[in-house]
Amino acid sequence: MIEEKNIDKKNIVLEAIFDSENINKNIIKSKNIITEFLDKNKAFIYLGKKEKLDINLFKKTSNIIVNLKRDYQVDVSTFINKKLSEKIIVREITESYILKHGEVYNLKTSKKPKFKNITLVNLTKNGKNQFNISKNETKVRNWVRSLQTMPPNILNSIEYAKKLKNEFSNFKNVDVKVLKKDEIKKLKMGLLLGVNRGSEYEPRIVVVEYKGNPKSKEKIVYIGKGIMFDSGGYSLKPSLHIKGMKYDMSGTAIVAGAMKIIINNKPKVNVSIVMPLTDNMIGTKAQTVDSVQTSMSGKTVEINNTDAEGRLILADAITYSIRKLKATKIVDVATLTGAIVVALGAAYTGTWTTSKKDWDLVNDVAKLKGECLWRMPFNDKFIDGMKKSKIADLFNTNYSGYGGSSSSAAGFLKEFTENIPYIHFDIAGTASVNGVSTGVLVKTLAELANKI
Ligand code: BES
Ligand code: ZN
Ligand code: ZN
Repeated sequence: MIEEKNIDKKNIVLEAIFDSENINKNIIKSKNIITEFLDKNKAFIYLGKKEKLDINLFKKTSNIIVNLKRDYQVDVSTFINKKLSEKIIVREITESYILKHGEVYNLKTSKKPKFKNITLVNLTKNGKNQFNISKNETKVRNWVRSLQTMPPNILNSIEYAKKLKNEFSNFKNVDVKVLKKDEIKKLKMGLLLGVNRGSEYEPRIVVVEYKGNPKSKEKIVYIGKGIMFDSGGYSLKPSLHIKGMKYDMSGTAIVAGAMKIIINNKPKVNVSIVMPLTDNMIGTKAQTVDSVQTSMSGKTVEINNTDAEGRLILADAITYSIRKLKATKIVDVATLTGAIVVALGAAYTGTWTTSKKDWDLVNDVAKLKGECLWRMPFNDKFIDGMKKSKIADLFNTNYSGYGGSSSSAAGFLKEFTENIPYIHFDIAGTASVNGVSTGVLVKTLAELANKI
């Protein structure tokens, strides 16, 4: 358990100790190593030069603190310096502790080892407030991480839609809707239906609407990519690349998590989330390469690669958001391209915005919440090759040899946004890291609703 309390003299207190002339000679002067004085109920973690301790170094310290071998009271006030505020210290320790030890979906039959308790002490009112914010946010992130982690043989599109509906039906101030296959057909969402052709399960679209400002026409719509499993389809992925493709629905779990926080915070804005769900499978009914599908927007798309399926289901979700929900700003979150993993790894989420203003806004919000974005370009050069189909408006993949396939995916999506301000996040590198779900962007998307 992690909690915040007043200091208890009977239990051991951990303090930060920095390099100085009068440092106790019994202290081990090696970074992130703890010296204990058990007779005095004190322990010191050595952190080198005080002025050098910044957030990146502290992330390592924080990971050590949450894995301690006995219960500690952590005196937060001793860690503070010019580069490291109380708020950041509390946030980092609380998040690492709950991400590491909190409940996340798991089917292991052996029990998890017991972990130690941490009590944060010597907090100001602001510090206590930050503790509660971080605790709630991280619990929601663990809910998101559980959805991401569930295996595709258990969480298919139909079960997932039911689960989301149940979850959001608990709240009074929101509307929840699940579109089934016949409604999706009526809406003429040929791109989503095309991807779904190879599936044993019908597609679903789950829509949740929060109306914090019913008088305003402004409405931000968050769309998540909800591919329950991406085999690649007839453009089949090789074995190594198929592994982990259960995470291809991460975008939907993330927008759902952000919505849970928004509902709790009650900002005076209108926010909706749209979650198109299907898997991308192979089989006699599956869509072939060379198929041409008509999107809900009316634009026709020649499928030159069935593995570029995310942009197909997202394009129909974008049109739905504009035509049916009357979106005035569109944000999508998608595990969209392998190329963004090559470019940015797990360090940054690739971010495309149609205006500099939106980039500044979203980047400031992300920094505030401790998440890292990197701006990527929209440029017609990336989609010229996609406009060269002989029989349709667009190809779904840019095979012109131009490269930049993350930006051509983003450009393809922008073709469907009808000039509405648009933000696209490619989380292929950040949604899961080393096979573990992260719940990335949940905090940033929830906070964005307060700032828009
Ligand atoms: N789901 C994948 C992208 C992905 C790759 C996510 C690695 C997470 C890790 C997506 O549907 C895909 O297959 N994209 C293709 C697009 C290509 C065919 C233009 C890719 O990036 O290879
Ligand atoms: Zn794919
Ligand atoms: Zn995919």
